[in-house]
Amino acid sequence: MRKRYLFLCTALFIATFAQAAEKYDTKAFRIITKLCTPCHGTPFYMAKQIDDDDWHYFFDTPGKLEHIHKGKPKALASLKNGLFKQKKKRLLKFLVNNSKFSGSVHGCDANFCGTHH
Ligand code: HEC
Repeated sequence: MRKRYLFLCTALFIATFAQAAEKYDTKAFRIITKLCTPCHGTPFYMAKQIDDDDWHYFFDTPGKLEHIHKGKPKALASLKNGLFKQKKKRLLKFLVNNSKFSGSVHGCDANFCGTHH
């Protein structure tokens, strides 16, 4: 009986803790805000414009992002930024997790409050 009680407590604790954990990658959020938001709107707004397959396509096709942004020096500078290069996979994951049919809708928090862009 005691063992079962302990198990229940642990399970509850983990469930509560998992709930309290961040619901999205705030680091990726901040990098996208810095590098892409001036043209694409807030990271959540940006992510919602296309679906997960499209995000994979644009990120995983070599030279694709550069090609789309040809003639846009600011965008090309963002793509060359060390932060972008280092965290590209993480940014892709964020965009996929929040993409068109992901069903994720974000409320107000310290980083984000509504779809202003
Ligand atoms: C200087 C402005 C600018 C910046 C900065 C910029 N983009 Fe873009 N991006 C554009 C424009 C303009 C388009 C073309 C939109 C169109 O043709 O419909 C575009 C298109 C895209 C597309 C094709 C899909 C779509 O929505 O049209 C992707 C993917 C994309 N950008 C990703 C990024 C990422 C990731 C960053 C940040 C690392 C970024 N962009 C930064 C201007 C920018």
